[in-house]
Amino acid sequence: MKIASNKLIDLYKYYQTELVSYYETSEIEAIFDLVCEHFLNLSKSEVKQAYHSHINQSDVLNIYLLVKELKTNKPIQYILGEAWFYDLKFKVNAHTLIPRPETEELVDIIIRDLKKQSHLLNANFKILDIGTGSGCIPICLKKHLVHTTVCAIDISNEALEVAKFNAEKNNTLIEWSNLNILNEASWLDSSYSVIVSNPPYVKKGEAAKMDERVLQHEPHLALFVNEDDDIIFYKKIIQFCDKHLYSGGYLYFELNPLTSNQVKNYADEFKIFNFTEIIVDMSGKKRFLKAIRK
Ligand SMILES: C[S@@+](CC[C@H](N)C(=O)[O-])C[C@H]1O[C@@H](n2cnc3c(N)ncnc32)[C@H](O)[C@@H]1O
Repeated sequence: MKIASNKLIDLYKYYQTELVSYYETSEIEAIFDLVCEHFLNLSKSEVKQAYHSHINQSDVLNIYLLVKELKTNKPIQYILGEAWFYDLKFKVNAHTLIPRPETEELVDIIIRDLKKQSHLLNANFKILDIGTGSGCIPICLKKHLVHTTVCAIDISNEALEVAKFNAEKNNTLIEWSNLNILNEASWLDSSYSVIVSNPPYVKKGEAAKMDERVLQHEPHLALFVNEDDDIIFYKKIIQFCDKHLYSGGYLYFELNPLTSNQVKNYADEFKIFNFTEIIVDMSGKKRFLKAIRK
């Protein structure tokens, strides 16, 4: 199919026609919005208003050329090298997970909870994010809880490089460390007021049911639990809380709904929390755990 003119609406029609057998209509619309933001600096709400504007030839070419790559199943965020999360833009690449809307919900829950205790939020109030990937969680927390000290760890040096870049781009100061949370000998010798984690939580057996786009392009180190125990990351982090979460401190997890009850049971049986609660996400799935240290 040829593009009828260099009006934005004709580029949009081109995307819908060319990608119809690869994506749902609503997905194509979302992809087109991201493309327009990237190349034309248009916000989502401005795209439709600009439908009848003429686009310059080099932008038309750039937008047109993306279609070939989109047909290979590569997520648009990896093609553009960026993703939006909690109203901030993050660099992403093959070493980092594309931040998910569920994780935005988690960040929102934490920010709302902590803002209720604003009198405690100073440099001694330390927050740790375990398995930080692109750094989306600590960077958003630091942006909204400016007086706190925010730290983050990941086993992947490549992911940490991306996270550091994102912190700089978003004008935030975070303390980064490269360590393996499953290896107790490498644990940091600090204590925290809040520990948060969205660890790898996809069970090996779930791979067959997963979207090809995720399987082919997102880092398996970020997705899969390569141990026999599906909730090993949650268990280790709860054990870490025993030694490194202050009394009265908060633990927040993003959960796999398939193992959410198991994680809560483990947290309860470990007897270091005086409160544990599973929180459902916007689609009604058991997605988050909140716990308060005794
Ligand atoms: C599900 S991703 C979450 C990334 C990011 N926090 C987010 O929410 O988009 C899990 C992260 O844990 C990291 N990771 C995997 N195994 C780890 C380990 N043993 N110790 C520390 N981090 C680990 C991965 O590199 C990945 O960045």
